[in-house]
Amino acid sequence: MLPAVITALMLLSFTHGENPAVQVILTNKGLQYGKHVGAGWIQDKLASVTFPDISGKIRISIFGNLDYTLTGVTITKCDFPEPSVEFYQDATGFKTSMSGLCVALTGGWMTHFGLIHCSGSFNLAVFSVDVTSVVELGRDADGHLSVTSVSCDAQVGDVDLQLYGGTSWIFQPVLGYFKGPIRDEIKGRICPNVEEIIVRLESHLQAMNVSFDVDHDLTLDLPLTGLPVINSSSLNLGLKGEFYSIKTHAEPPFEAQPFTVPKQPGYMLSVGLSEFTLNSASYGYYSAGLLQALINDSMIPPGSHIHLNTSSMGPFIPQLPDMFPGLLMNLQVYAREVPLFSFQPGAVKLGLLGAVKAFAIQANGTQTPLFKLNVDSAFSGKVWTADGKLKGSMAMNNLTLTLASSEVGTFKTDAIGGLARMASTVLVAKLNEKLGKGVDLPRMKHAELVNTVLAVEEGFIAISSDAQVLQTDGHFN
Ligand SMILES: *[C@@H]1O[C@H](CO)[C@@H](O)[C@H](O)[C@H]1NC(C)=O
Ligand SMILES: *[C@@H]1O[C@H](CO)[C@@H](O)[C@H](O)[C@H]1NC(C)=O
Ligand SMILES: *[C@@H]1O[C@H](CO)[C@@H](O)[C@H](O)[C@H]1NC(C)=O
Ligand SMILES: *[C@@H]1O[C@H](CO)[C@@H](O)[C@H](O)[C@H]1NC(C)=O
Ligand SMILES: *[C@@H]1O[C@H](CO)[C@@H](O)[C@H](O)[C@H]1NC(C)=O
Ligand SMILES: *[C@@H]1O[C@H](CO)[C@@H](O)[C@H](O)[C@H]1NC(C)=O
Repeated sequence: MLPAVITALMLLSFTHGENPAVQVILTNKGLQYGKHVGAGWIQDKLASVTFPDISGKIRISIFGNLDYTLTGVTITKCDFPEPSVEFYQDATGFKTSMSGLCVALTGGWMTHFGLIHCSGSFNLAVFSVDVTSVVELGRDADGHLSVTSVSCDAQVGDVDLQLYGGTSWIFQPVLGYFKGPIRDEIKGRICPNVEEIIVRLESHLQAMNVSFDVDHDLTLDLPLTGLPVINSSSLNLGLKGEFYSIKTHAEPPFEAQPFTVPKQPGYMLSVGLSEFTLNSASYGYYSAGLLQALINDSMIPPGSHIHLNTSSMGPFIPQLPDMFPGLLMNLQVYAREVPLFSFQPGAVKLGLLGAVKAFAIQANGTQTPLFKLNVDSAFSGKVWTADGKLKGSMAMNNLTLTLASSEVGTFKTDAIGGLARMASTVLVAKLNEKLGKGVDLPRMKHAELVNTVLAVEEGFIAISSDAQVLQTDGHFN
């Protein structure tokens, strides 16, 4: 008990002050679906299960000790009642029970009784097997979900044994003696097997990555920030949900804010995604110096009547063609600050504080600075799901240009502002074309999301969905 308390306190102190930016909620509907799929899977597996040889010793009062071995045991028939599973608050886990399992087994038997060796085949029916298992969910120091067996209880109602062949007739009178020991043997094997499955599951969980590289620049950290929270109707996992630049791994100057995902018991699962997650990605790119671009004349469509050269800029900056006649120009575009997203009911907003530095390219290749413009823009967008895809649209709300510094004297920014607006409109239209096509919702190897709905709330996006297991090859492990 004491070690458990200390571990819990340590886990709490590790996570002090860190709010999860991603919350995953499994509802009872999701739990029941998972159980139903799992039960079907077990039923399929049972058909092909093979048992190791079972050996034992039976004391028969009049004869003394009888050694026996059962070999090649296979299941001939199995009545596998659908188990029940529920969220179990007492253990912060699940309670699974199954009652009334009946199995018919067949195989070979061998006995040593002193010098007498006998063998033959057998049929064994096992009735009314009840199993109850309670598992606890937790979190290890690295933020993996952990699962441990808290209790397991197995009962076997009755067994019926038939022996055939060899000298089985010898044993017919004492068959009753076998029943008890065989029942105990079976009963004694159930819980260690259940516990072994849980240990195997735990080692799978330990081997799972809690950090994923999403591209060459960003990695996503998804460890649990705290212990799983369970009540009678749901399981809530809080995940860190923070992107880092692979290059800098710098911590952003802002933190995840707490949020509560609205209850959606009609869906199997809900996911809450804080604006912090998106902003940490934005900061990751920014801190790695990736939010900048160099624009030169070769990138301007040849047909355009405006080009990146000093004469073409005459209508916007009258003195430029006189000071630097006939020179090509470069534009260095960059974010002055981290672009920040904010989620508001029904809308995603983005503030972009950018700057453009303009250079003239001298004949000898030297870049002469001309001026610097601050470009501040605000966008608002919508996101939704349709046809199994996440789609969006974006609009520019305003764009303000101010002259931050100039080596060519002052000039009015109105005209060049019009140009910038025009260029932005083209870019936004291109972006909307992509957003309108959408991206596929995350899909696992063996399951897909269906009936997905999405709502933008204050500070987070709430996604609720059902899942559907794909049974392409009849099994999935
Ligand atoms: C975990 O991550 C490492 C390195 O990022 C990768 O090599 C490994 O394949 C990943 N394991 C799984 C199970 O995804
Ligand atoms: C269970 O917890 C969720 C939050 O995780 C809450 O919305 C819900 O009301 C709780 N249900 C019960 C029955 O306490
Ligand atoms: C413009 O930039 C591209 C890519 O950075 C480069 O390939 C091209 O040569 C440049 N053009 C001029 C005219 O500098
Ligand atoms: C500058 O651009 C104009 C088009 O706006 C073009 O006619 C002219 O040839 C270009 N000058 C240079 C030096 O590239
Ligand atoms: C390149 O040319 C410019 C203008 O003619 C001149 O001011 C500058 O000193 C030159 N730079 C070099 C490295 O020759
Ligand atoms: C953009 O518009 C919003 C309201 O429409 C205003 O609050 C904000 O100051 C504007 N931003 C700029 C950079 O002009």
